[in-house]
Amino acid sequence: MSSNSSSERPQPSLQDILASDVIPPPEHMRQESHVDFGNEDISIDRYISKAYHDMEVEKVWRKTWQWACRLEDIPNVGDHVVYEIVNDSLIVVRTGPNLRDIRAYINACLHRGTQLRTEGGCVKQFRCPFHGFTWGLDGCLKQVPEAWDFTHVNFEEFSLPEAQVDIWGGFVFINFDHECEPLLDYLEILPEHFKAYALEERYKAIHVAKVMPCNWKLCAEAFVEAYHVAFAHPQTVAYYGDSNTQYDTWPGVRHINRMISAQGVPSPSKSHIDDDTVRAYMERDTPFFKSKVEPTEGQSPRAHFADVARKKISASSGRDFSQISDSVAIDLIQYTVFPNFVPYGGLGLSAGYRFRPYGDDPYRSIMEIFFLFPKADDGSHPQPAPIIWLTEEEPWSTVEAMGSAAMVVDQDTDNLKRIQRGLLTTRKPGVTLASYQESRIRHFHNTLDTYMAAD
Ligand code: FES
Ligand SMILES: [Fe+2]
Repeated sequence: MSSNSSSERPQPSLQDILASDVIPPPEHMRQESHVDFGNEDISIDRYISKAYHDMEVEKVWRKTWQWACRLEDIPNVGDHVVYEIVNDSLIVVRTGPNLRDIRAYINACLHRGTQLRTEGGCVKQFRCPFHGFTWGLDGCLKQVPEAWDFTHVNFEEFSLPEAQVDIWGGFVFINFDHECEPLLDYLEILPEHFKAYALEERYKAIHVAKVMPCNWKLCAEAFVEAYHVAFAHPQTVAYYGDSNTQYDTWPGVRHINRMISAQGVPSPSKSHIDDDTVRAYMERDTPFFKSKVEPTEGQSPRAHFADVARKKISASSGRDFSQISDSVAIDLIQYTVFPNFVPYGGLGLSAGYRFRPYGDDPYRSIMEIFFLFPKADDGSHPQPAPIIWLTEEEPWSTVEAMGSAAMVVDQDTDNLKRIQRGLLTTRKPGVTLASYQESRIRHFHNTLDTYMAAD
């Protein structure tokens, strides 16, 4: 079989672009790393088989750290959210005033199993609606109605079972596995890289969740490469560096990978586009970058937009962001945290995704998109956004607050329905991946395979 012989990556490279920025990026962004995981096809079973999905519950969802909520979602004692993953359900609750006073209880009554909470809120105790068994915020059984009939129940042994809880970057993580490695070890290089971004100093300003027409992994994979951009989102190539996106995987790093796409520069495929066109299209799609301040003589669109972003974010937050790098101000700096969390580092584009199966259905998923805004200097911030839930039929564009991002994600959603459908009919046993541009997907499956093979 012949293969494509040209392996030159398009120019300019992301590193070339970063090298000519006015304010240079954090050091770790100046580095590249690529691990060769081979070019084998990825088996299609994992996207369509219920047996594989069931095994994922045991080997992935019950073994990995997953973010359940933001700290600002549960600021007061008794505040809680319900975090659900397939058929598992947890009450993640603030039990005391200290940062780490958070626990995660299995959301089922120890009498006859009723779910204790169906949604978040603030409570003083957990009282089952069926017969009234009641637990304190500390998880201890407090009250059994008509206790004379339960002399066989030892209160001491009837505490609510728990999952592990830890926090990083303002995110509350849970893990069902009591033998798991500590969160900070699990996150590998992430905490070091995100020192430059300090997500704990941001709050959740927008949060939208939607039922998606595909397996959760297909959904996640559609958002971690820029190879599809030229075809799926052609409107963006005037100002978005798609084919010169940098993808990073690191030796020995299992849970974290990264991509960085430059903005404010045309795609290498559109290098003939002049500066005015770059400006016009970027402002059209992202009005945030519109400004009354004209670019200075000879200033590139990228440098101009970085200036605009620094000024706007400083003005809206009341903090001084005049020294953040051009890249942090405008680029797409995106990490994967295995299995299902995708946080962004940048400040102009400060967002994240979470992907989960929709209930027990391998052909549907829940995708969430959130945006983080900086807190004020004193740590104060508006109320965090409640989740807006969209059904499978409702497009992302029904949520006005998502702005132009909604159109992009709707384009992806249309494709995802076709991808799931295509994988059900294809006679090819595996999907084929690009060596470089789809290397984050390859890395994800490599890690997934190790979890699925574990005892
Ligand atoms: S099932 Fe909860 S009190 Fe009976
Ligand atoms: Fe996309």
